[in-house]
Amino acid sequence: DLYNFRLIRPDTKVYGIIGKPVGHSKSPLLFNAAYKSVGLNAVYLHFLVDDVEKFFNTYSAVDFASGCSCTIPHKEAALKCMDEIDPIAKKIGAINNIVRRPDGTLTAFNTDYIGAISAIEDGLRELNGVSPGASPLAGKLFVVLGAGGAGKSLAYGAAQKGARVVVANRTFERAKDLAEKVGGQAMTLAEVENFHPEEGMVLANTTSVGMKPKIDETPLAKHALKNYCLVFDAIYTPKDTRLLREARETGAVIVYGTEMLIRQGFEQYKNFTGLPAPEELFRTLMEKHA
Ligand code: ATR
Repeated sequence: DLYNFRLIRPDTKVYGIIGKPVGHSKSPLLFNAAYKSVGLNAVYLHFLVDDVEKFFNTYSAVDFASGCSCTIPHKEAALKCMDEIDPIAKKIGAINNIVRRPDGTLTAFNTDYIGAISAIEDGLRELNGVSPGASPLAGKLFVVLGAGGAGKSLAYGAAQKGARVVVANRTFERAKDLAEKVGGQAMTLAEVENFHPEEGMVLANTTSVGMKPKIDETPLAKHALKNYCLVFDAIYTPKDTRLLREARETGAVIVYGTEMLIRQGFEQYKNFTGLPAPEELFRTLMEKHA
């Protein structure tokens, strides 16, 4: 089922996901089904990788290598093995999508921020209607909880769209550092509890608060949610976190972490193949194998 019993020939394009651990990844399932659906002579494998540098030296030298996804713990370390890096990915300091050009050079992207930001933009359009041209995030007050890898992705992504970014984090130093880099404002988590200067704000949780098994926790008390028109949670286990439930009850549009996950996959597929992603197929498979 995973590899659709494909015949591998010398000209078969080889893709994969590198990580450690990597066996749990559903990417091979999604990408192999997608390649098959359009008749691409390509396969997508799990690559259990210890030493990223050694891996990329080999990978950029072999003709059948075409691209790979990159997950924990290699998203940062892989940067130094690239020939070309998307400017925002470079600022974020993490990559998850690598394309091998025919000349062997490696170009890297970060599709996590694109997936999250596009899901949030669509949520805002749902709320306010579509206005062509400008991003619905332009001028919005955008509060990011957390300053780790996901926090950086959301903060840089929102800043790039013209949002006014606030970064709040348990360790305040990290919030300050990130806020400075994106031209935003830093706060403590306690300060965000009493921060409601205007209506129509956007909230993005990237902390692990509320993640399984501690599903009763929330990074921000319900009373503090009243001025947010949209709340996103990067957590996807569980899909419906306490934060999202309480935001829904408060009347906000909610955007699930699963949406970031699936959309980052659409972007990877586009970068790998130059084709539009088979979105319905991806969604169906993700639900079936949740
Ligand atoms: P990721 O790559 O998913 O962003 P990470 O880099 O480990 O993961 O970051 C985890 C984030 O969750 C951090 O912002 C962390 O805050 P600190 O910088 O203070 O460590 C935040 N976090 C984790 N547990 C938390 C908790 N119990 N309360 C508040 N924030 C928490």
